Amino acid sequence: MKKIGVLTGGGDAPGLNAVIRAVVKTAQNDYGCEVLGIRNGYDGFLNPDGLIPLGQDEVRGILPRGGTILGTANRGNPFARKVVRDGVEVVEDTSGEVIAAIHRLGLDALVVIGGDGTLHISQELYERGVPVVGVPKTIDNDISGTEVTFGFDTALTTATEAIDKLHTTAESHHRVMVLELMGRDAGFIALHSGVAGGADVILIPEIPFDYERVAEKVRRRQQVGRHFSIIAVSEGAKPSDGEQVFWKDGDEVYVPRLGGIAQKVGEYVEKATGSETRVTVLGHLQRGGTPTPFDRWLATRYGSSAVRLAAAGGFGRMVALRNAQIVDIPLLESVSALKRVDVNGDAVRTARAIGISFGDD
Ligand code: F6P
Repeated sequence: MKKIGVLTGGGDAPGLNAVIRAVVKTAQNDYGCEVLGIRNGYDGFLNPDGLIPLGQDEVRGILPRGGTILGTANRGNPFARKVVRDGVEVVEDTSGEVIAAIHRLGLDALVVIGGDGTLHISQELYERGVPVVGVPKTIDNDISGTEVTFGFDTALTTATEAIDKLHTTAESHHRVMVLELMGRDAGFIALHSGVAGGADVILIPEIPFDYERVAEKVRRRQQVGRHFSIIAVSEGAKPSDGEQVFWKDGDEVYVPRLGGIAQKVGEYVEKATGSETRVTVLGHLQRGGTPTPFDRWLATRYGSSAVRLAAAGGFGRMVALRNAQIVDIPLLESVSALKRVDVNGDAVRTARAIGISFGDD
């Protein structure tokens, strides 16, 4: 193995830089291998300034930094890329150009650090002969085959701190506080931070809720003298008789943007209970900032293991965490289905057992 590429794709997550650093150090120290950084996801293969050689100097000091020094792109799908032709915006399949660039550059492997979307694209490129190795990234923790993705622990920490802060002001003002959290179709951030922060109600996409059940929980607390409540809502949560709430439609390139369910919950609860209610949307604060020690540790192990996997010729595979050990699994296994909260698992049962309502009981 003489030369490998590394790219980051999809939404950023704390720990991306830690993976890049581990890839560069392991490749150089253990294999004497050159590393080429690809800027802004797969787009970097198509742009004139899209490539950057990475050595020890380029990765010095980046371990605690959030974001990604390589940049990333949510719309960076080479199979459906927006380009301007004769002044008109069109969507084109540019995968042939990307594959040609990878071969022209003489890359022996391409380490792709990405979430569900980027790993899907990588599987398709692998099927067309690209020597891809995957690293699972996302704050949502929704990638199958791995117990945890890096970035999740940092998002969880930020979300829990937010719930802690909402608690003190909620209690002082005798208010209901509704907090909208990220996660798309998986409720891990809301569930874990809701339990860790002592929320009274947790609404997640996997358990459709009833507005009246949510209000009922708040009323029950009022009756026993608890004149404040905390409701943690996953952005993808939906009522049993309704749909998820989006603030922006998608198109051939962008996925639809979830958002707005917390506002609806807040309005209903205020009307139904008479409690003054406030809504907070935590948004991208969950994605930014310095990674937690756990995420740095996991990201470093993932990055280093990905290089070893590439050296062993483990293409079309992804590093994963199972039983606290790094293993590798087929990319196909990880992208075949989204990982979601097990509604009958111990986490949900524990939350119910300590009195948290999911708005369904
Ligand atoms: O997948 C990560 C994530 O942060 C989701 O939780 C969220 O729905 C989405 O990305 C937001 O994407 P964007 O940054 O493009 O608005």
